Amino acid sequence: MAGFLRGYILQYIVLVFYLSSSSLIVDAIQTRFVLNDRPIIGIVSQEVYNKSDYSLPPTSSYIAASYVKYVEGAGARVVPILVDQDEAYLRRIFNSINGLLFPGGAIIFEYDNSTINNSTKGFVSTGLFLMKLAKEANDKGDYFPVWGTCLGFEFMLFAEGNGQDARTQCQANNQLDKLRFQKDAMQSMLFGKARKSVINTLGTKAVTANFHHLCLTPENFTRFGLDQSYYLLSTSYDPVGNVTYVSAVESINYPFFAVQFHPEKNIYEWTKKENLPHSPEAIEAAQYFAMFYVDQARKNTHSFNSTTEEEAHLIYNYIPTYTGLKGDTFVQKYFFPFDWSKKGYN
Ligand SMILES: *[C@@H]1O[C@H](CO)[C@@H](O)[C@H](O)[C@H]1NC(C)=O
Ligand SMILES: *[C@@H]1O[C@H](CO)[C@@H](O)[C@H](O)[C@H]1NC(C)=O
Ligand SMILES: *[C@@H]1O[C@H](CO)[C@@H](O)[C@H](O)[C@H]1NC(C)=O
Ligand SMILES: *[C@@H]1O[C@H](CO)[C@@H](O)[C@H](O)[C@H]1NC(C)=O
Ligand SMILES: *[C@@H]1O[C@H](CO)[C@@H](O)[C@H](O)[C@H]1NC(C)=O
Ligand SMILES: *[C@@H]1O[C@H](CO)[C@@H](O)[C@H](O)[C@H]1NC(C)=O
Ligand SMILES: *[C@@H]1O[C@H](CO)[C@@H](O)[C@H](O)[C@H]1NC(C)=O
Repeated sequence: MAGFLRGYILQYIVLVFYLSSSSLIVDAIQTRFVLNDRPIIGIVSQEVYNKSDYSLPPTSSYIAASYVKYVEGAGARVVPILVDQDEAYLRRIFNSINGLLFPGGAIIFEYDNSTINNSTKGFVSTGLFLMKLAKEANDKGDYFPVWGTCLGFEFMLFAEGNGQDARTQCQANNQLDKLRFQKDAMQSMLFGKARKSVINTLGTKAVTANFHHLCLTPENFTRFGLDQSYYLLSTSYDPVGNVTYVSAVESINYPFFAVQFHPEKNIYEWTKKENLPHSPEAIEAAQYFAMFYVDQARKNTHSFNSTTEEEAHLIYNYIPTYTGLKGDTFVQKYFFPFDWSKKGYN
């Protein structure tokens, strides 16, 4: 009986070997070597742009809850990263999380070289400091991924360009675009292992939701030297502004990825003021990006020093506000008080 079973299993293994594609086997091997199956992503908060909104203290920052859900839906937890904090706070958080996410939003990029090492001046200074830490970590062999969406995408390229703003005006606001994959996109990390159905949807159907008045053209991408540090993976076309703009990039030397569109909106935003495709194929494509990115974070082994410290920082300490009820295009937002960072550290 045992011998029969052994033979049967062997046959089965041989059969599976011949039937499955080699990529399936590669996937299985990679799954076995996941370093960290409890990844935590730090999402950078940003200043509330309309200070009279919701009677908040003027120094409050926020994170749209859709970014939190986006990360959670792919198997990770979230720690909010507050702005206007000191360097020690950012270093501690950085050394405790497995990846960063720069969300969309509205922030004016003011770059002052004298403040590049000063994290106390909002989203841009905080972000520049974190990007510096991310590069230093990766340079030392500590695999640390970074993701940017919309404003986050623009910010990461702004940071790369030493504060040169290479953006141009476009009208891709509330606009659905498809991706035009560039020559080597299918060899990239971001798209190389995507299912055919995902590539097909992104390339042939206008499912990516865009909300930007500024964009980066392929001409400026090259002119500003960004092609030296990032691969241009796809462009999209804004028919209103008649502008072709860069829609997806990945860093040449670092696990940094960024998209101009909003995958999280397809899945988690429901305002009727925005045109958001919620079809099964749009959701599949949007979810692909979250799954891809969280998988990068699983390769990082940073952790909080203690469970208590981890618990004190997780997003679960906050209750999102149902801002959609008040007409906000975000269905829910997390708001953060100014002095929260002190919490949880003795
Ligand atoms: C800011 O928020 C207040 C209160 O919700 C609103 O009355 C006002 O129109 C908003 N201003 C802008 C520029 O959106
Ligand atoms: C963890 O504890 C060590 C030693 O006390 C300290 O140097 C380090 O900064 C802490 N790390 C974090 C992420 O808090
Ligand atoms: C900041 O400094 C870098 C390196 O010295 C320089 O290339 C860049 O032009 C400066 N940016 C601004 C906005 O002054
Ligand atoms: C910022 O810090 C780096 C070291 O991390 C240093 O090389 C650089 O000169 C500093 N820049 C400024 C403007 O102080
Ligand atoms: C950083 O900026 C803040 C706010 O402008 C300022 O109070 C502080 O002195 C600056 N710190 C350093 C080290 O330059
Ligand atoms: C290039 O960037 C500049 C701003 O730095 C902008 O004025 C110009 O329109 C852009 N050109 C193109 C072709 O994108
Ligand atoms: C769109 O822009 C291109 C150049 O970028 C120009 O050749 C073309 O005429 C423009 N089309 C329209 C309809 O304005």
